[in-house]
Amino acid sequence: MAEDLIIIQSESKMQQYQSLLPQIEALISGEEDLTANLANISAALKEQFGWLWVGFYLVKKDELVLGPFQGPVACTRIKKGKGVCGKAWADIKTLIVDDVDQFPGHIACSSASRSEIVLPLIKDGIVVGVLDADSADLAHFDETDETYLNQIITYIKL
Ligand code: SME
Repeated sequence: MAEDLIIIQSESKMQQYQSLLPQIEALISGEEDLTANLANISAALKEQFGWLWVGFYLVKKDELVLGPFQGPVACTRIKKGKGVCGKAWADIKTLIVDDVDQFPGHIACSSASRSEIVLPLIKDGIVVGVLDADSADLAHFDETDETYLNQIITYIKL
């Protein structure tokens, strides 16, 4: 199978997701390995959207530990309730932060990050990780991202 992605140049975020989603589903559907699938999802999102950083943190014992990602090096461990990722874990809900400088306790892995979305990965009612995306632009993420990223999360065999 060829692993080339078709990247569309569209002004519409929705159209970009609609092109990308079936490709991501196809890319990971035949593979059982979680690390491989999270790595390819990160790469596909980075390639289509060019965000500053996108990737996963996975719950290990009482912390989130850095998983597959694309972008600048990042902090490796985040405690429950800390930063945007730890808060999304503690509250079991998606967080969209328009301006990370206004988010109390935001963990600045990169000073270039201006806005962020974090979605929990939930298995049997328990958060087992988060999907985190950072943009260099303010207020970059919205409900469209939340909807489609949540759809991508449903493809993952956690
Ligand atoms: N900003 C995140 C930390 C992870 S990095 O953005 C990759 C947070 O506040 O939890």
